[in-house]
Amino acid sequence: MWQDIQAAPADSILGLTEAFRNDPSVQKVNLGVGVYKDETGKTPILKCVKAAEKILLEQEATKSYLPISGDPLYAAEVQKLLFGKSAEVIISGRAVTAHAPGGTGALRVGGDLLKKFYPDAKVWLSNPTWANHKGVFKTAGFELAEYDYYNPASRAVDFSAMVDSLENIPADDIVLFHACCHNPSGVDLTPAQWKEVAAIGKDKGWIPFLDFAYQGFGEGVEADRCGIEEFAATGIDFFVASSFSKNFGLYNERVGALTIVSPTAQEAAVAMSHLKTTIRVIYSNPPAHGGLVVSTILSNPKLHAQWLGELAGMRDRIKAMRVALVKGLAARGVEGDFSSIANQRGMFSFSGLSSDIVVWLRSNKSIYVVGGGRINLAGLTKANIDYVCDAIAEGLRQ
Ligand code: LMR
Repeated sequence: MWQDIQAAPADSILGLTEAFRNDPSVQKVNLGVGVYKDETGKTPILKCVKAAEKILLEQEATKSYLPISGDPLYAAEVQKLLFGKSAEVIISGRAVTAHAPGGTGALRVGGDLLKKFYPDAKVWLSNPTWANHKGVFKTAGFELAEYDYYNPASRAVDFSAMVDSLENIPADDIVLFHACCHNPSGVDLTPAQWKEVAAIGKDKGWIPFLDFAYQGFGEGVEADRCGIEEFAATGIDFFVASSFSKNFGLYNERVGALTIVSPTAQEAAVAMSHLKTTIRVIYSNPPAHGGLVVSTILSNPKLHAQWLGELAGMRDRIKAMRVALVKGLAARGVEGDFSSIANQRGMFSFSGLSSDIVVWLRSNKSIYVVGGGRINLAGLTKANIDYVCDAIAEGLRQ
């Protein structure tokens, strides 16, 4: 069957992890995939997760199917995290949430659902964006387009170009945003800019779809949701894909959610009915464990507080590594201004390293960086930062 078929290329991010695993170098450093590592280079299980799992082990009474949209307690906790405990959207019942297998699962379910009702819509992605956004929405059958976002010269959001793009997107097209911690650039909109973007969305009638994979990795869980709050305040229809891979460290449990916000509770109920028919034919109903862990933590005041503390610990360590990288490169007299790395948010940074340097770092130093120069700062530790800074300095002198 496969004799005349060419092999598919490796995934640009997860394929790098495979190559990293097979690299025998003892000094190898993985700055590729967006996975948090602690100071010892390990991806730990959060203490609040272990505590929740202990509770579940003792109290879980059945492994029967969950409802198609998942556990209602999980959906309620996800909404509180997204909008705030007593948000109007929650009280009015105009948001519905389904537990999806990870952020990617939520994006794809949302894509499949939208395709049913907007078969001719284009999906607009930020330039640049996470490589898998293209795969997900293309495979859901959409034509893709790009709106302006990042300016490599200023290493910042080109907001006026972005506004120009957004104002020219027709009604009923779909516009994908990174709610915080833009992947790959690490540069986000300010609260005032979110307000403006939400107003354009309302005015133009396109459908916002917010990918929220890093809540808590920017400034904190509340500050990071300001884009969601601005869209909620407009009263228009929009979608949010949440992921709890990073902020709960639950990568391999595939735990995320798709939330659909509508102008009224009646419309939201219709949205949920179609969301369920979409899910039923893909994976029928979600895997329980990760969702149960998240809802156990969020609904328990002690565990909730512990989680916020652990999340802050991850955020602060990444910020410290940003500063250390900038200082390390400056101390080695590396040419070029890398100072913007310290101000970017989330796990990633567009380092400004060229494709040649990215290839050189991998071949000569076993340092893995995603093509385009995206660095995962969480892969840096006190033990490897000097090695990485030396390697970048040497690479740039070649
Ligand atoms: C990343 O961008 O590295 C992460 O979101 C992991 C992934 O699935 O690509």
